[in-house]
Amino acid sequence: MRLPDRFIQTLKHIHKERAEEWLCNFGNQMALFEQKWGLSIHEPFDLSFNFVAPATRKNREEVVVKAVLSDKEFRRELEVLKRMKGSGMVKLLEYDQDQGVMLLERLRPGYTLAEVEDEEEAARIASHIMKSLWVTASHHSDIETVMDRENSLKRIARQHTHGFGPISSELICTALKVFKQLNREIQEPYLLHGDLHHYNILKNGHSWMAIDPKGLIGDREYDVIQYLLNNLPETNQKEIIEKRIHIFVEELDLVKERVLLRGFSHAVLSTCWTVEDGNFNEKFFGTIEIFQELCRQSGLEVI
Ligand SMILES: Nc1ncnc2c1ncn2[C@@H]1O[C@H](COP(=O)(O)OP(=O)(O)O)[C@@H](O)[C@H]1O
Ligand SMILES: [Mg+2]
Repeated sequence: MRLPDRFIQTLKHIHKERAEEWLCNFGNQMALFEQKWGLSIHEPFDLSFNFVAPATRKNREEVVVKAVLSDKEFRRELEVLKRMKGSGMVKLLEYDQDQGVMLLERLRPGYTLAEVEDEEEAARIASHIMKSLWVTASHHSDIETVMDRENSLKRIARQHTHGFGPISSELICTALKVFKQLNREIQEPYLLHGDLHHYNILKNGHSWMAIDPKGLIGDREYDVIQYLLNNLPETNQKEIIEKRIHIFVEELDLVKERVLLRGFSHAVLSTCWTVEDGNFNEKFFGTIEIFQELCRQSGLEVI
């Protein structure tokens, strides 16, 4: 099986020598799993960071194979899939933790929530999924927490005392202050999906299902932020974000002020990450200002 060049480059860029080894073994590895699970693996979907391909089992059942190079990410995805079993989450059928390979039910027709043009309808579908996914966090978990996120921003603030790329040091300090405050206030931490944007919600029969959980332990307000920041049009972004927030607050009984402050502080953190990774994006950067404005409108001070 030939893997797309861009996927190979991405893996080498992120995982260096580990990627060389993984890619070298890849063909044999997949052949072994075809045997072990009685599969025939087909051409992959559009690949970004992991290998994901449709496959057919001997009994003609349609499934999906996902091979994840990062051991940590694989374990986290597995943990969330197991904990959110029976909800709006894709079903896990088999897995091999040592090799980082899992078998999932195939969602059909499988197009994403980005296909739904009506903003209100899409946000209500996403709300419904979130409501079904969230569970209280367990004490023994390997999953990233909102404290880890705070620490990530703390590290950036320490390393870049004069600002980072286009992000001023004042902005970083304010976002860090907001992070600390929000984290201190959490009473009952939840296990969240951690990456629930439009492209990780797929149509399945007459309903919708979530795929690709990263996992995050924190407050429910944090889990709507990926959705708010993604799949935005070129114009009227502020109005769209406002509309989405209104629906999430109403449907999920969230605290609007927390959503706004989570939006602001996460937009700062994730923009810093894009600068670190060398893929800074102007449009994404712009969402910081949008959240600052929304905060001000609601009487919240953020610079
Ligand atoms: N269970 C599934 N059923 C149908 N298609 C899927 C399924 N899982 C993944 N896909 C397809 O594969 C793509 C990549 O899968 P995803 O798990 O999001 O990978 P990554 O971790 O690289 O983001 C998805 O956008 C979707 O098109
Ligand atoms: Mg994905």
